[in-house]
Amino acid sequence: MIQSLRGMNDILSDDYERFDYFIQTATAIAKRYGFHYVETPLLEETALFKRSVGESSDIVGKEMYQFTDKGDNDVCLRPEGTAGVVRAFIQQKLDKKGGIHRFYYHGAMFRYERPQKGRLRQFHQFGVESFGVDSVYEDALMIMMVADILKTLGIGYRLKLNSLGNQNCMPDYRVKLVSFIESCGDAICGDCERRKLTNPIRVLDCKNEACQALYTNAPKLINNLCSGCHSDFEKLKTILDQHNIGYEIDTHLVRGLDYYSKTAFEFVSDNIGSQSAIAGGGRYDRLIEFLDGKPTPAVGFAMGIERLLELIVMPEPVRNGYYFGAMENESLPLILKCAEKYRQTEKSVVEYEPKNLKNHLKGADRINARYCAVIGENERNSNSIWIKDLLEQKETIISLDTI
Ligand code: HAM
Repeated sequence: MIQSLRGMNDILSDDYERFDYFIQTATAIAKRYGFHYVETPLLEETALFKRSVGESSDIVGKEMYQFTDKGDNDVCLRPEGTAGVVRAFIQQKLDKKGGIHRFYYHGAMFRYERPQKGRLRQFHQFGVESFGVDSVYEDALMIMMVADILKTLGIGYRLKLNSLGNQNCMPDYRVKLVSFIESCGDAICGDCERRKLTNPIRVLDCKNEACQALYTNAPKLINNLCSGCHSDFEKLKTILDQHNIGYEIDTHLVRGLDYYSKTAFEFVSDNIGSQSAIAGGGRYDRLIEFLDGKPTPAVGFAMGIERLLELIVMPEPVRNGYYFGAMENESLPLILKCAEKYRQTEKSVVEYEPKNLKNHLKGADRINARYCAVIGENERNSNSIWIKDLLEQKETIISLDTI
């Protein structure tokens, strides 16, 4: 029997209800914040991710679904959504046009990671990207939006916050950090040796416990920010305080992608095991120019839908729509016609197999329909339909001419 690939799951039945409910909720909220839908291809040139997510990241270094297509192009299944949206933004010349552009998207992402609970090779993200606003109010808006979505879905969280500085303060900090890493000598792991050369700040995120113990004394970027980054970070904290959004400062939060500057944040859940990040994002003011666009400030986030599914508190199911059934074969054409009419405004599901009334009522119950509508011999002869409102427990017979 052919099985799905490791780390690639089907989303069926109960999970799909939750998935669909998540997309509807997040979409409605994104629209309320003034965001517009964007769709970009699943497959992009590999160079796009190398230049944006960064060669020093695990995603590009180890996890890409990369191959050469029949036209000899080096291509890659998207490991995340930001790079594609930025590419589209530049390709459509929105960077030259100026102004504010806000997008949301959802879809499959691919990372060749070691699968475990909450870590898949194909997973789904809901994300937003905002272009053209350099005010830190927009960073706060991103965080408020995630908080809004999580609150609506009944999901508790902790918010971790950091600032990664910018081109003014990062170079000096990097020098300090490298000299600290060198002072650790051989005690650091092989990965950190490599990170020291490619992107030293990434050592702070090392999963090796011995390294983490060493880095507790590492210089902290938030103590080395330039005045602009410092005042923005302070302002961000004040805005979040004013909106009653709790946060903890995590000076080791560097994010797994290279394009961030200034604000970086992650929402985590304590109820889903070790893969606890449910959303992450931040500011990426340099990325548009790195991809040959006109310099444009930008900020965004993405949420991991699979990690949220088991946390979502679903609303009480309400009976809705119609169940249609015939009591004998001769009534089936009539019932089909009725269903077709009702379907223009209501959910209408037809049972093709003729059954007695009791079994049709059971069928209506199974699909949680509000109305059970049945045609038997009597109704057929009088050109009518029997309808029971299963919520109000009221029965009526109406003429087919009035439908
Ligand atoms: P990210 O932190 O790499 O950020 O991913 C966002 C979320 O996707 C994570 O918090 C997690 O919930 C989910 N996720 C990541 N990897 C997996 C996996 N292997 N299995 C299941 N879920 C996963 C980004 O992707 C950035 N593009 C976010 C962003 C948008 N920053 C600015 N704009």
